Amino acid sequence: MYGDPVKVLVTGAEGQIGRAFVRLASDAENFEVVGYNHRQLDIADPAQIERRLAEELPHYVVNCAGFNSVDAAEANSALAMSVNADGADNLAKACAELSIPLLHISSDYIFDGHYDSGYTEKDEPAPLGVFGRSKLMGERHIRQQQPRHIILRVSWLFSETGRNYLTRVLEQAREHKVLRAVDDRRGCPTSSMDVARVLMAILQQLEAGAEAWGTYHYSGAEITTRYGFTEAIIAAASQYEELAVRKIQPIPSNEETGAERPTSAVLKCTHILNTFGIRQRPWRVDLQRLIREIYGQDGSKVVQPTVETRAEAMGS
Ligand SMILES: NC(=O)c1ccc[n+]([C@@H]2O[C@H](COP(=O)([O-])OP(=O)(O)OC[C@H]3O[C@@H](n4cnc5c(N)ncnc54)[C@H](OP(=O)(O)O)[C@@H]3O)[C@@H](O)[C@H]2O)c1
Repeated sequence: MYGDPVKVLVTGAEGQIGRAFVRLASDAENFEVVGYNHRQLDIADPAQIERRLAEELPHYVVNCAGFNSVDAAEANSALAMSVNADGADNLAKACAELSIPLLHISSDYIFDGHYDSGYTEKDEPAPLGVFGRSKLMGERHIRQQQPRHIILRVSWLFSETGRNYLTRVLEQAREHKVLRAVDDRRGCPTSSMDVARVLMAILQQLEAGAEAWGTYHYSGAEITTRYGFTEAIIAAASQYEELAVRKIQPIPSNEETGAERPTSAVLKCTHILNTFGIRQRPWRVDLQRLIREIYGQDGSKVVQPTVETRAEAMGS
């Protein structure tokens, strides 16, 4: 028999990972999930965090909030820092005061991507831009404030909703005959539902007594380039829709505009396997599944699943 449910408070509940995690955790036996979107809980505001945590008294906090536009961060460094660095600091302090473990998502962009063989958790971070620096500062604050933390670094997130590489490629493939895609930057795409699965697996093991706090890498299995990922998206979507695109043109990353990005930020995922037994799932499997969800039964409808956040559940 089960006891009281494990209560998990999620910040950034309307982002890619936030949505996927709230959906998954809501269906999990013996878990109660309360999701707060940006409007309902601003992690840059310590007073709001203190109030929400005192009201909810969750067993765990999962921080899915973030300022994630790598290009916009260059021009808005104060905002990126206030969310990714100060926001993480605020959450970690408040969690430490109430003895609540904090699970936090970080990024492959804390590395410079000059190392071809893949990064372990022991490798030295060297971010290239404001976004990566803000995420690295967030990690450091968390380690300092709340030893009972899990920092999960993930890479190349995609999902069926919002602005991400998958939805952008689909949009462009409907409008243009030629798509340009970078062919000299390597990484591992990771679906938001796969990250949600990993977070749940970690939570279940923490609940079972695993005191395995620390930093872990996770990504979908199979290294590719943006070009390779684009090809896979187009091939999957073409099963359902006649797209305008006829050619994918490989380009070098120096022809791309915007912030500098790591060339090869492959995350080695051995530590999470050895500690939690969590294996990398092939991103192609999730891509096929998401494409099926996007097109629905009649092959035309774009699905926009919603999550119920805390304030909505309470009728406000
Ligand atoms: N996207 C990637 O490729 C990628 C790769 C590696 C790691 N990550 C990390 O994974 C985590 C989740 O990423 P994601 O792609 O799921 O993010 P996302 O889709 O951009 O969602 C982030 C959410 O955070 C909210 N938010 C922004 N500022 C906030 C604040 N001050 N207080 C509370 N909420 C705030 C946003 O709300 P509004 O939109 O209303 O502002 C949004 O709903 C982030 O930590 C990100 O850095 C992402």
